[in-house]
Amino acid sequence: MAFERRDGCGAETRDVDLAGCDGTSLDAVRDALREHGVLIFRDQALSPDDHLAFARRFGEIVVNKFFPESGVHAEIAEVRKEKDQQMNIGGGWHADHSYDEAPALGSILVARELPPSGGRTHFADLAAAYDSLSSGLKRTLESLRAVHSNRHLYGENGIYRKTDLASQLGGEDRVGDAIHPVVIRHPESGRKVLYVNPGHTIQIEDWTVPESRALLDFLFDHVKGSGCTTTLEWEPGTVAFWDNRRSWHLADNDYHGHRRLMHRITLAGGPLSAAG
Ligand code: SIN
Repeated sequence: MAFERRDGCGAETRDVDLAGCDGTSLDAVRDALREHGVLIFRDQALSPDDHLAFARRFGEIVVNKFFPESGVHAEIAEVRKEKDQQMNIGGGWHADHSYDEAPALGSILVARELPPSGGRTHFADLAAAYDSLSSGLKRTLESLRAVHSNRHLYGENGIYRKTDLASQLGGEDRVGDAIHPVVIRHPESGRKVLYVNPGHTIQIEDWTVPESRALLDFLFDHVKGSGCTTTLEWEPGTVAFWDNRRSWHLADNDYHGHRRLMHRITLAGGPLSAAG
């Protein structure tokens, strides 16, 4: 199975049928995910049952606490924007579920209904972003931990609750926080990864908010400007599979007046270990 490396982040293939993926082709997908962090599969015909069966090969599934269910399977969440809606899900850079004690391993997103143009998804590689920092800053970051939260998004007065997305969302009472090392050791590849993200990382442990803001903003700008991002143009039949411990993603909100519907399965992960 041939994966072609994409500029900046991830790899892409037209060379696999995810609906019948097992044995050596499954091993190849696993290896590619470990190597590239984000995988794009084209020309897929993946029914919701196939989507679920493929995801289960990678482990346990976590049901999203906030997104609507697809109505097909409880384990498949809808990432949906209606044509009369203004706000989309995931419109800022983030890593899924970093506010959980055991953040998600990854997500598998299947395009179900695409707008005529726009609605791209951007990805960033946080292992590459870490590698391109100076040795001095790397040493400092390796001694730090950061607080991740979802209260500012999904809590009572959260950002999403004040938008026209609110009626789709549940789980107001299920908000929470977690603390993770700022630099983690990737559980499968062993690489060091910068594990902070603009959507959910709110503070460096034992630092003031302004101190934290200054460092986090520097790191976020570094990731965005370090040449480790890629932009996915969705086509019918495209599936994206990202390693959530190593990547960020962002969904463009530039297709008002059109519907976009994606099916997402999120895979359970484990607690994260510091790199040092
Ligand atoms: C997300 O999972 O954050 C949404 C990604 C997308 O809709 O492209």
